[in-house]
Amino acid sequence: MADNLFSSTDKQYYDNLIKKIKLCDKQYYIDDNPELNDADYDKLRQELTYIENKYPKWKSIDSPSAKVGYTVQDQFKKANHSKAMLSLANAFSIKDVAEFVNKIQKFLNINEFPKLCVEPKIDGVSFVAKYKNHEFYQGITRGDGKIGEDITENLKVISALPMKLTKNAPQELEVRGEIFISKEDFATLNKTQEENGNKIFANPRNAAAGSLRQLDTKVTANRNLQYFIYSVIADNFAVDQFLALEKIRNLGFNTNLHSKLACNISQLQSIFKSISEERFALPYDIDGMVYKINDFNLQDRLGEIARSPRWAIAHKFPAEEAKTKLEDIIIQVGRTGILTPVAILTPINLGGVIVSKASLHNEDEIKRKDIQIGDIVNIKRAGDVIPKITSVDLSRRKNTKLFIFPNNCPVCKSKVIKEEEEVAVRCIAEYSCKAQILGKLRHFVSIGGFNVEGLRDKQIEFLYDKNLIKSSYDIFTLEIRQNDTALKLENYPGWGKLSVNKLYKSINSSRNITLDKFIYALAIKHVGSNVSTLLAKHYTSINKLLTATNNLKDKDSAAYLELVNIDGIGNKIIAAIIKYFSIEDNMILVKNLTTELTINNYIISNINSKINGKIVVFTGSLSKTTRLEAKAKAEKAGAKVASSISSKTDYLVAGEGSGSKLSKAKKLNINIVTEEEWQNLL
Ligand code: IVH
Repeated sequence: MADNLFSSTDKQYYDNLIKKIKLCDKQYYIDDNPELNDADYDKLRQELTYIENKYPKWKSIDSPSAKVGYTVQDQFKKANHSKAMLSLANAFSIKDVAEFVNKIQKFLNINEFPKLCVEPKIDGVSFVAKYKNHEFYQGITRGDGKIGEDITENLKVISALPMKLTKNAPQELEVRGEIFISKEDFATLNKTQEENGNKIFANPRNAAAGSLRQLDTKVTANRNLQYFIYSVIADNFAVDQFLALEKIRNLGFNTNLHSKLACNISQLQSIFKSISEERFALPYDIDGMVYKINDFNLQDRLGEIARSPRWAIAHKFPAEEAKTKLEDIIIQVGRTGILTPVAILTPINLGGVIVSKASLHNEDEIKRKDIQIGDIVNIKRAGDVIPKITSVDLSRRKNTKLFIFPNNCPVCKSKVIKEEEEVAVRCIAEYSCKAQILGKLRHFVSIGGFNVEGLRDKQIEFLYDKNLIKSSYDIFTLEIRQNDTALKLENYPGWGKLSVNKLYKSINSSRNITLDKFIYALAIKHVGSNVSTLLAKHYTSINKLLTATNNLKDKDSAAYLELVNIDGIGNKIIAAIIKYFSIEDNMILVKNLTTELTINNYIISNINSKINGKIVVFTGSLSKTTRLEAKAKAEKAGAKVASSISSKTDYLVAGEGSGSKLSKAKKLNINIVTEEEWQNLL
């Protein structure tokens, strides 16, 4: 292209060219109605490249040259997160917030209020965008926090997300944030969906999630998705959160402009109050405020517990309330056999979500609240939580019917019992009630467990009814058993060869699992994802876990004392774990499962650390940190912190005024180190 063609061009020409190409892209990819033919369009693109090479300074951050066209993929690839995507603990009152601050002060042994960065909690879907050499190269969804789905192609069509960064951006940069759809775009989208006979989204968050996870990125592009960045991962990027937000904004990213700093509780309270009032006027949904310790150094020291950081908390807005009619009460039987009454409601819009069911928890709750079928009830919903019936509008009671709680399981007809100290009523047929077996199987393959794609509620029930899968172990022998049968799964209606093979493929890829997920999948009562992580962190390998569980019955055994000593595991959980492993069928199931699986050891961060896997005991008073911080640090480096000395102890860290533990350690010839020596080891 001849230079003189541009002799009269100025920046304006370039800007107009960008606008023109963007319009053409929209006409072509989104409206399916291109105005220009391909050759003319290509000419515009060539012109753009030419100008940008000649005048690199002009190059706009959202130039179409940085975006590729839309793509259609056939599935999402999996992608590992560079650092776990944590979730946040919740606070529902200022008292909870004060407690959060108090715990931090204790942990750090400080009296002053730690400066907090206060940000709106955007009610959208979290995402990661990674950049290398100033170019975007990968996008990932949150997934289970460790592994997400590769949404690189989808992020490329989010217009406000920069694809190229200026040279003053870090060479390697990862940003994390929330993708959302505005309230207005959500309303328009649902209207179009309805007109076209397509799915209606319950709320903007679901719409954003559904729009992002599209194999055909043209659909994503059409939904006008927006985002805010709330966290940055890059070497030496900033010293605190507030500055990090400012810096990332200067690099061309969107951040929420309502973020503020707070230096005491009353400032927090007033920021919370003013945003609570303002939030209905905001163009997007927020469901609370996030308080983060501003100083990154302190964040580092505070670390995390299981899946949430000690240095941040979400202060949720109060629940939304409404009135509706209770049409019926049904009973659901869960994976542990608990009979839960569920209220069937006349559907009602509660803060943007259509609510048609509410949990009634148990029989006592129905009695206590004097709930009858046909009542007009007040319902409440906070954040993600399932709606609750708060009270009955007795002034409107007319022709209601008392609900009689059943004496038998509605699914298997077995007797139900109420255990001592429990409010819940349980079906006794733990291993023969279809509802319980299906519940356990569903849990086993759920996203927090084995995450077997293509094996969800419908398929599980089908395979169960056909006697093909009766226990979790059967999932892994399904393919091999199919070889010996004439009645092939692929011959059943709805199960073509393709989907059967796809199922085997996802079952086989789930055979490789980490210890925490394996424990979670077992559906031990009270052992959810947090407790599973704590157990996995402690025992690290399936063999160590099984050895320990063999010896739990004796309350004086080392195995029992070890379990009791794990931070965050209370008596109720301990009793449930002991009970689970004392049942022979469970032990057999676990052992059989191990023959079909590769259960990976739980890897604790610092594999190179000298104290990885070592057992350490602290005694006396420490001068540099609090006991809490010392313990958290040791655990982060892979050590196990015990409360008493035994022959297994590797180190005793002896602070000022050590007493009996020190003499016992000397007797047992255990490595005794000072606080300083311990620091060096760390
Ligand atoms: S910080 C370790 N900041 O809320 C801290 N999260 O329950 C991780 N969210 O998964 C999150 N707005 O998707 C943070 N300003 C904000 C946020 C925010 C929304 C979401 C995020 C996260 C979830 C935590």
